[in-house]
Amino acid sequence: MMNPSNLPDAGAPRRRLYGGNDPARAQGIAELRAMAARRLPNFCLEYLEGGADDELTLARNRRALDDILLLPRTLVDVSQRALSVPLFGTDSALPAVIAPTGFNGLLTHAGDRVLAEAALAAGIPFCQSMVSTVALEEIAATGVRHWMQIYPFKDRDNLAAIVRRAEQAGSEAIVLTTDASVFGNREWDRRNYRAPLKLTPRNLVDVALHPRWVMDVLVPHGMPRFRNLGDFLPPGMDSAKNAAAFLAGQMDTSLTWDDVRRLRDLWPRKLLVKGVLLPEDAVRAQEAGADGVVVSNHGGRQLDGAPAPIETLAAVRAAVGAEMTVIVDSGFRRGSDFVKARALGADAVMSGRATLYGLAAAGAVGAARALEILRSEMERTLGLIGCAQMCAVDARFVGRG
Ligand code: FNR
Repeated sequence: MMNPSNLPDAGAPRRRLYGGNDPARAQGIAELRAMAARRLPNFCLEYLEGGADDELTLARNRRALDDILLLPRTLVDVSQRALSVPLFGTDSALPAVIAPTGFNGLLTHAGDRVLAEAALAAGIPFCQSMVSTVALEEIAATGVRHWMQIYPFKDRDNLAAIVRRAEQAGSEAIVLTTDASVFGNREWDRRNYRAPLKLTPRNLVDVALHPRWVMDVLVPHGMPRFRNLGDFLPPGMDSAKNAAAFLAGQMDTSLTWDDVRRLRDLWPRKLLVKGVLLPEDAVRAQEAGADGVVVSNHGGRQLDGAPAPIETLAAVRAAVGAEMTVIVDSGFRRGSDFVKARALGADAVMSGRATLYGLAAAGAVGAARALEILRSEMERTLGLIGCAQMCAVDARFVGRG
């Protein structure tokens, strides 16, 4: 018989997260997150999870999604459900793209390649960060739909060189991130180091307490190196320590829409501007020749106090019209969140931490599990709202309490 003292208070969530390490048994992204927290040392977990300042925007990203209601239609034939959506004229198996996240090699060895292979298997594009730890040519060669994210570095010649490399490697899109030229205030990051990339003694002890991570990442390979900054850095200087110091001085805070126009002239394929939050900026991106925008607050890691992208998405869509590609991110953790984004006008969602939790929990198996969880949740949500096709989800299916 169940012991009543083990029951939560009436009304409290009756939830106990799975405490093991088998990703196949993780029931949701929250359980992969708990697994990742057990495997990673604190400084890596904070790097993965953290937001800026008081993390108000980080929390708002979730709250804003939670506050949207799904409005079901009943007695609709949902026996055959189709999750795919067109993205730049080619079908994507899910309305999802892996978001660019730097330093994935810190979570699992060759994390970028592992995530790209998971994206390939799931039939969705992979967007690689410019500050990634696997060469972009190696990722593009996996056959995944490869998008390359770039930051506006001062060294424009070498920025142009990266764009040329992406062109030669067959990348489908360049994603220019515009919301991080001024670096957000991530206090946890500074707290974890006593000098650039020198961990505090407390964190060193913590590393020793996480042998699975040490044996996967640190012992066989050493700290990962930045593999796409070779053009910027003198030979042999691509270690995390050298590059971190270099990167801090490289962000071009004088960037304007004219630079987007120049990039447009340089790059012949799809161009997206990432880090747009307001409709008027989305229109500026359109006027500058971009093919798409990513409505994003960088997962709450930059401007604390910014709105959640899901709150401005419908206005962005209304401002740019039906043709422009609109992608959204920040806070998406359930398949139902992706359905809400479609209802409010997004073509797709960039998945940041949701898939990183899988990667950090269990490498390739964990990344695949994260995508399978999201896929099955999307399929179930379509069934529950009475809409057989992801493409047919529209604003009638969402509301507010
Ligand atoms: C990021 N993000 C990011 N964005 C970008 O354009 N270039 C980058 O190198 C990174 N690096 C990065 C590292 C980590 C650990 C995180 C969590 C995020 C932002 C990322 O692309 C995306 O906008 C957010 O992750 C979306 O929010 P969620 O899904 O993580 O809540």
